[in-house]
Amino acid sequence: MGEMHTNIWRVDAEHPMPEDLQEAAEGLRRGDTIAFPTETVYGLGADARNTEAVAAVFTAKGRPSDNPLIVHIADRSQLSELTAPPEEAVSRLMDAFWPGPLTLVLPVRQGALSPLVTAGLPTVGIRIPDHPVARSLIAAAGCPVAAPSANRSGRPSPTEAAHVLGDLAGRIAGVVDGGPAGVGLESTVVELRGDTLYVLRPGGVTGAELRRALPAGVRVQDAVEAPTATETPRAPGMKYAHYAPRGSLTIVLGADRAAVLAYMRRELEMARARGERTGALLFGAAGGRQAAEEQAAGMLAAAADHIARCGSQGDLSSAARELYGALRSFDEAEAAFIVAEGCGEEGIGAAIMNRLRKAAAGRVVTL
Ligand code: TXA
Ligand code: MG
Repeated sequence: MGEMHTNIWRVDAEHPMPEDLQEAAEGLRRGDTIAFPTETVYGLGADARNTEAVAAVFTAKGRPSDNPLIVHIADRSQLSELTAPPEEAVSRLMDAFWPGPLTLVLPVRQGALSPLVTAGLPTVGIRIPDHPVARSLIAAAGCPVAAPSANRSGRPSPTEAAHVLGDLAGRIAGVVDGGPAGVGLESTVVELRGDTLYVLRPGGVTGAELRRALPAGVRVQDAVEAPTATETPRAPGMKYAHYAPRGSLTIVLGADRAAVLAYMRRELEMARARGERTGALLFGAAGGRQAAEEQAAGMLAAAADHIARCGSQGDLSSAARELYGALRSFDEAEAAFIVAEGCGEEGIGAAIMNRLRKAAAGRVVTL
C-alpha cells in the first residue's frame, strides 16, 4: 500500500477540547482510518458502516479478514440501531460495566454495519469505552466506530501513541495522542448463550466482577485456554499468534523463584553461546521489596542484554499497564531469545498470563 501522511493530534486526555478533535472526527466521517486512545489500549477507528473505510483498517493492520472488529459507541442510545433490545442479564452487564472494558457479543441487525466488521458472523462485539477522548471523538463523528487494537496484526497492542506510530505510521490517516492508555490490556469479550456467559477473551473486567453483576442462575464460563487445532475458538481472534515480540519468548513457571531465576539464567547463557541477543521479563517483587528485585535482576544481568521489569506482583494492575510496553522493549533491544517469569493469576493476572502465553506461542516450561 502507498505511504500516506499520518497526522498527529495531541489532546488533553481528561478534557479534550472539541476543536482539537474536530479534524479527526471529520476524518472518520469521510472514511479515514484514525487511531485514538481508550481506557484499555489504542484502537484504530473507522466508520463501521463504510466498507471501504473498514477494509482500510484490515489492510493497514495486515489483519486476516475472518477476524471481526469491535464496534465502539459513545452511549447506549446508539445501541438500538445495531442490535435488538438486550436480554435482562446483558442489560445488567451494561449497567455495571459500561462505559468500560467489557465487549458484549450481541446479535447484529441486518444491514446496520459493513459486513466486513462482523466477518460474516451473525453477531457483533460492542462496547462503550471509558475514556473522555474516545467518547468525545465517537460522539463528534456521529457514527459507530469499528476499532481493533491499533497494532500491526500479531504485535503487542499499543498503549501509547508512539507504539501506534511505530507500527502504522504511513499506513493510517492519523492518531489522536491522549497519552498512555489506562488498563493496558484489551477489553474482556463475553457472549451470553442461554444461561451461560462465555468469556471469549479475558481482559479488563475479571470473572469475579462479572459473576457479582449477573442475576442468579446465569453461570460464567471462563475463557478456554489453547483450544486444540480442531476446535474453532468462539472469538476468532484468539486463534492467531498474538501480542508477540519479534524474538522467541519462553515462560518459566515454578513455585520456587530462586529455581525459576536459575533456570532462566541457564537458558540465557545457552542462547548467548549460540550467538543470540537475549532478554528477560521480570515482575517486580510484591510490596516493592527493593532488595528482592535487585537480587533477581542481578542474577540475570550478566546473561541478559536487556531486562524488562513489568509492574509488581503485589499490584497486578501496574503489571497490566506495563506488559505491552515491556514486550515491545525487547524489539528495541533486538532480543532474539527472551525468557519471562509468570505472575499471579488472580484478578487481572488471568488476562496478563493469557496474553503472555499467547506471546510465548506454547513455549512454557514448568519446573
Ligand atoms: O480493548 C479492546 O477491546 C480494544 C480497544 C481498541 O477497544 N480493541 C481490541 O480489538 O482489542 P481487537 O480487534 O484487537 O480484538 C477483538 C477481539 C478479537 O479476538 C475478535 O475475534 C473478538 O474480539 N470479536 C470481535 N467480534 C466478535 C464476535 N462477533 N464474536 C466473537 N468474537 C468477536
Ligand atoms: Mg488486537
